[in-house]
Amino acid sequence: MNNFGGDWTKSKIEILVEYAKAYLNIMNVYANRYNWKLLYFDGFAGSGEIIRNDETEKEFSDINITIGAARRIIEIENPRAFDEYYFVEKDFENFRELEKNTKKAFPKKKIYATHDDCNKKMLDLSNYLRNPKNKNYRTLAYIDPCGMQVEWRSIECLKGLPVDMWVLVPTGLGVNRLLKNNGQISDAWLERLEKFLGLDKDSIEKYFYKKQENLFGEIVMIKTEDAIKKSAKLYHTRLKSVFEYVSNAFELKNSSNSIMYHLFLTSNNRAALNIANDIVKKYNN
Ligand SMILES: C[S@@+](CC[C@H](N)C(=O)[O-])C[C@H]1O[C@@H](n2cnc3c(N)ncnc32)[C@H](O)[C@@H]1O
Repeated sequence: MNNFGGDWTKSKIEILVEYAKAYLNIMNVYANRYNWKLLYFDGFAGSGEIIRNDETEKEFSDINITIGAARRIIEIENPRAFDEYYFVEKDFENFRELEKNTKKAFPKKKIYATHDDCNKKMLDLSNYLRNPKNKNYRTLAYIDPCGMQVEWRSIECLKGLPVDMWVLVPTGLGVNRLLKNNGQISDAWLERLEKFLGLDKDSIEKYFYKKQENLFGEIVMIKTEDAIKKSAKLYHTRLKSVFEYVSNAFELKNSSNSIMYHLFLTSNNRAALNIANDIVKKYNN
C-alpha cells in the first residue's frame, strides 16, 4: 500500500467504504429503533465515477483512472444503504458527469447533486441538521479536497452535530508549501493559511517558526524542521476542539515517501473512533 499515487487514491476510498459499511452496520439497529435517517454528504464529489487524476496526482500516479467514492458509496446495499445522498461539486464539467453517474444512474435512490462550493454547503448542512425538524438525521460526511479549499469555519459549524466525517488535510501539499523557509509569507498565502487553520498570523508564526539572531544581529525566522508532522498535529488539535473524537491519521505519501496529506475521522461517538483507528492502522501498514 501507499507506494504510488494510484495506491493512495485507492486506499483513501477503501478506508471510506470500509468505514461506511461498519457505520451502516451499527446505525442499522438504531435507525430501525429510533426512525433515524442516514445521510451521506460528500463535499468534493468529483465526477462520481471516474477520477481523472489532476496534475498533482498524475505526477505520482502509475494509473490515471479509478472508480470514485460517490459511486462506491451509492452501491453499498449490505448491511443497508444510506437513506439519502448529497453530493457537492464545484467544477461544472465534473458536476454534469456527477449527475449522470449518481442521480441518473440510480433513479430509485434519494440522491441530490449540487454545483456549488463545499464551504457553503457545509454551512447549509449544519443549518439543516440543527433544525429540530431534522433531529433524526445521522450523517456520514466525506471531505476530500485536492488543496486547501476547506475553510476552518466550515468545519467549526459542525460542532455538536451527529456527524462522522472523514477529512483529508493537505499537510504536505498545502500547509507546508505555504510556510516559506525564511518566514516571508506573502499576504495572500497568509490569508489562506489563516482561513484554513482558523488561526491568526501570530499564532501560525509562533507554532511553525523560531526567531533567531543572525551574524549581523538581525532577527530572522527559522521554520521548524518537521512542519508537515507539526501541521498534522495542529489540525488534529483543532479538530479536537470541534469533535469529541479524532482518529489517528492515515498518511498519504508520494513515491519518494514524502507525506502529501493526512486523513482523519472525526466523530462524537467513541465506537467510531475505535473502528476508524483499526482501519487506519491496517492501511498505514
Ligand atoms: C480529489 S477530487 C474528489 C474525488 C472524489 N472524492 C472521489 O473519490 O471520486 C476533488 C474535487 O473537488 C472539486 N472541488 C474543488 N474545489 C471545490 C470546492 N470549493 N467545493 C466543491 N468542490 C470542489 C474538484 O473539482 C474535484 O472534482
